[in-house]
Amino acid sequence: MSAEHVLGLVCATGVIPVVVLDDPELARPLGDALKEGGLPVAELTFRTAAAPAALRLLAADPDLIVGAGTVVSADQVDLAHEAGARFIVTPGFSGRVIDRCHKLGMAVIPGVATATEVIAALDYGIDLLKFFPAHASGGVTMLRALQGPFPQVRFIPTGGVSAANMADYLALSSVVAVGGSWMVSPERVRGGEFAAVSRLAREAVQIAAEART
Ligand code: 3PG
Repeated sequence: MSAEHVLGLVCATGVIPVVVLDDPELARPLGDALKEGGLPVAELTFRTAAAPAALRLLAADPDLIVGAGTVVSADQVDLAHEAGARFIVTPGFSGRVIDRCHKLGMAVIPGVATATEVIAALDYGIDLLKFFPAHASGGVTMLRALQGPFPQVRFIPTGGVSAANMADYLALSSVVAVGGSWMVSPERVRGGEFAAVSRLAREAVQIAAEART
């Protein structure tokens, strides 16, 4: 599958759950809960020791598109690739991370929060970007301001996004999807509240579908 095709699937529902797992045992039930909620995609953050093992388990499910998030080094790209990640998300801009992804043929969504970082990404031929941390960086107002000089750029705002404000972001033509942890909060996942995960995932998918029409 080409990197472009992967990115299309990642953005298909308009919502990307940002998952933190500290116990690989929770990976399978979590993946099932997301699929049950109509959200067969996950950005698994590389913030816990359990991340590579959890990623391996999630990536083994052919019905899920699973990537690694919070990737900040080329070594982590290698780890994620070995574990079966289909895409890489970074919280900030790193040319080294992008180079490694391109070398491996992996889809990469770099994080940006300024015009300078958007230009750096465009220099690498990348125009699908994570806007992070979205709320703290000016939210919808900042994205609207960036749309002027960068009409070709598509954004995935993440950080402070929730069911309450995701439609505001998706109303912008430059926003192709939003990311967030609200439907897969670590407390909920740790507590095994998978029915709630499915319910919140389904709600998010519905809000996105309505916002995009
Ligand atoms: C991320 O890594 O993308 C963010 O931590 C997700 O932000 P949120 O927890 O505010 O949704």
